[in-house]
Amino acid sequence: TLLKVVIDQKLDINGFGACEGTLACSTCHLVLDDSTYKQLGIVTDEEMDLLDLAYGLTDTSRLGCQVC
Ligand code: FES
Repeated sequence: TLLKVVIDQKLDINGFGACEGTLACSTCHLVLDDSTYKQLGIVTDEEMDLLDLAYGLTDTSRLGCQVC
C-alpha cells in the first residue's frame, strides 16, 4: 500500500497513518489526480465510511492504507 511505502521509505509526514492501516483514523487521506484515481481498485464501504470523515474530501480521495 502507499502507507507501506511511506513507512518503508521512512518519510516524515506528521501523523500520517496513525492507525497503521487498520481503518480507524483517515490520517492517510490522499487526494489523487483523475488519471491515478481511475487506475485504482474500487472503494470499499469501510474505506468510504472513513473518507466521509476526512478533511477536504474530494471526488478523487482515497486512503493511502487501502491503495497499492
Ligand atoms: Fe488509518 Fe489509513 S492509516 S485509515
